[in-house]
Amino acid sequence: MTEPRPASRKLHIKTSGCQMNVYDSGRIADLLAPLGFAVSDTAADADLVILNTCHVREKAAEKLYSDVGRLRPLKAAKRDGGGRMLVAVAGCVAQAEGAEIRARAPEVDIVLGPQTYHRLPEMVAQAARQKGLVLDTDFPAEAKFDFLPPTDTAPGVSAFLSIQEGCDKFCTFCVVPYTRGAEYSRPPASIISEARRLVQLGARELTLLGQNVNAYRCDGWGLGRLIGALATIPSLARIRYTTSHPREVDDELIAAHRDIDTLMPFLHLPVQSGSDRVLEAMNRRHTADDYRRIVDRLRRARPDLALSSDFIAGFPGESDADFEATMKLVRDVTFAQAFSFKYSVRPGTPAAAMARQVPDTVKAARLAVLQELLSAQQRAFNRASIGRELAVLFEKSGRHAGQLVGRSPYLQAVHADAPDAMIGAVATVRVTALGANSLAGEVVP
Ligand code: SAH
Ligand code: SF4
Ligand code: F3S
Repeated sequence: MTEPRPASRKLHIKTSGCQMNVYDSGRIADLLAPLGFAVSDTAADADLVILNTCHVREKAAEKLYSDVGRLRPLKAAKRDGGGRMLVAVAGCVAQAEGAEIRARAPEVDIVLGPQTYHRLPEMVAQAARQKGLVLDTDFPAEAKFDFLPPTDTAPGVSAFLSIQEGCDKFCTFCVVPYTRGAEYSRPPASIISEARRLVQLGARELTLLGQNVNAYRCDGWGLGRLIGALATIPSLARIRYTTSHPREVDDELIAAHRDIDTLMPFLHLPVQSGSDRVLEAMNRRHTADDYRRIVDRLRRARPDLALSSDFIAGFPGESDADFEATMKLVRDVTFAQAFSFKYSVRPGTPAAAMARQVPDTVKAARLAVLQELLSAQQRAFNRASIGRELAVLFEKSGRHAGQLVGRSPYLQAVHADAPDAMIGAVATVRVTALGANSLAGEVVP
């Protein structure tokens, strides 16, 4: 590895998309630190700007081009001052659109896919030497994780840890299998050592990440066993994982929810639709009743388990009756929170070519109805917390002086008056009031 240099260059990273991109951006910063790059909150005067992008819906992908537009004057100002601002596009838009990005955004110097971050130092050196585009969107045989240096930036109270990447599911609406490649699970030993390091650096909660995190399989280990091993790390107070696929919920994982106290009783389990016809057209490979059964088993194992999910409104061919089946599933299961989206046509995916695309007005109307029900369920869930005592892991200062904010086991944000010394501690908080997006309460001495 290169000898550490004093920080002399400014690096700005803008991250969009899922938590995996957030994790990757952190690792990119770790990777570039020995080359003298120090992270800056603003792009102005930066020597290197990295846009870590998302391609999952059209709006997310278009954001890249408006972001690059905003960099144009900053890049010119840097040049006028005798310097050079390199602009790199990383992440899923880079993977999906490759060299086309250069045609639409000539300011871009480097395009690199999510699997080639470890090659970034070489690419930066190359881009500094030459004028044309430096592009690397391979799916290399080596795993990037093996080449990224161990982190030494303080991760904060709650840290992400990628354990699995890629997707072999090929849901017909989704770009992820094309942008992130095949499912790959990191070896348990390397995950456990990274987890220990994060805890040593101050993390009290780890969220294990993967596009299909519960498809984790390596050397005979599944996710349940891995969680069991991580739960033995002293001072690790909480473990979470996301995102899961219903098909991959196995007995071992359900047992982990029953047996492991540090595994939090909150699960993000996307279902997408409640109609079997639509689920089949989506290639989800589960029915609505399969989903209900999985939830029942999980709730038997862990009765207070709170659920979150993803929904798509207006998938091609979705009828009023199909949509009603989704509403019924939501009413049957009840969610503590959820994400819902209008179906967005993604070029190159099978659903983009399906007949009977749903008009935008219908998609919008269905989404509004669905979101109303989901928000009512979320409000009801939060309201039911009033008067209860919840274990809150304090993460940082709150909006007002003397106040901290943390999370309940069910991922609700909770504000309470407490000294800064309690950041990183789990305290019992009696919930007294409901805010717009959070709860407020008092620490129980
Ligand atoms: N791996 C995860 C989620 C990946 S993308 C999973 O399998 O659930 C996150 C969410 O974006 C998906 O769950 C889905 O609800 C939504 N999404 C993906 N492609 C979409 C599209 N073309 N249009 C609208 N929403 C989409
Ligand atoms: Fe996309 Fe489906 Fe894979 Fe999730 S499981 S990443 S929705 S293809
Ligand atoms: Fe977006 Fe790529 Fe994540 S498409 S959701 S950043 S895997």
